[in-house]
Amino acid sequence: MTVSDTGDLAVRVRGLTRRFGDRAVIDDLDIDIRTGEFVALVGASGCGKSTLLRILADLDHGIDGEVRVPRRRAVAFQAPRLMPWKPVWRNVTLGLPGGDPRRRAEAALAEVGLSHRADVWPKVLSGGEAQRASLARALVRDPDLLLLDEPFGALDALTRIKAQHLVAELWQRRRCAVLLVTHDVEEALLLADRVLVMRDGVIAHAVPVTLERPRRLDDPLFAELRSELLGWLGVGEDIAGRRAA
Ligand SMILES: Nc1ncnc2c1ncn2[C@@H]1O[C@H](COP(=O)(O)OP(=O)(O)O)[C@@H](O)[C@H]1O
Ligand SMILES: [Mg+2]
Repeated sequence: MTVSDTGDLAVRVRGLTRRFGDRAVIDDLDIDIRTGEFVALVGASGCGKSTLLRILADLDHGIDGEVRVPRRRAVAFQAPRLMPWKPVWRNVTLGLPGGDPRRRAEAALAEVGLSHRADVWPKVLSGGEAQRASLARALVRDPDLLLLDEPFGALDALTRIKAQHLVAELWQRRRCAVLLVTHDVEEALLLADRVLVMRDGVIAHAVPVTLERPRRLDDPLFAELRSELLGWLGVGEDIAGRRAA
């Protein structure tokens, strides 16, 4: 793992392999993410998406291959993982180096619309608020690479849409590179510059998303890209349609 802040690439991975026992979950994988690029990663459950994310977050050291990432990285998981015995603002700055934590926590909470929750305990937050607090905890680190592992997966449909809008807005403002793991093809197409399909331990396919922003579900190209991605995921339109119904 090399940490470097230079160049046009936020992430450069070559020949990455991660074995659990004798099974290579990630098997000679390459990936590039440009500085400021928003990339979504989709793939069947268990195909290794979280494993890849954890490696980029430097939370997993049992790897072979070359991994370059920026120094300032932050990660948000599906579960907000807030410490129940610390007020929200303390959770945001937990383990954060540097001074003035209160002011920095307030700025990050303001960015996610949670200023009024700075002093409450995590248990009083709604699911959507807890997820926004988790996002604030990532943003306070001022990341050049933001790693998101199904961050909206546990939210109800309406809260999820709001959270997606928030992430789109934060990214427009900050322009950090983002890697968003999601099982939701529409979410990927609403947010990303490029969607990567992971299969058999590698990036099997990449779909550039040329839709204009803000993205619209009724854009004819949206439907086209959606079926292309579902095809790569081995899910027919009929099955996807039935699931949505
Ligand atoms: N620490 C571990 N030890 C053993 N197997 C693991 C470990 N972490 C992940 N795996 C296995 O690696 C595969 C990929 O897991 P994961 O990256 O979590 O998949 P995804 O996020 O795509 O659903 C799964 O089969 C999982 O059981
Ligand atoms: Mg996962």
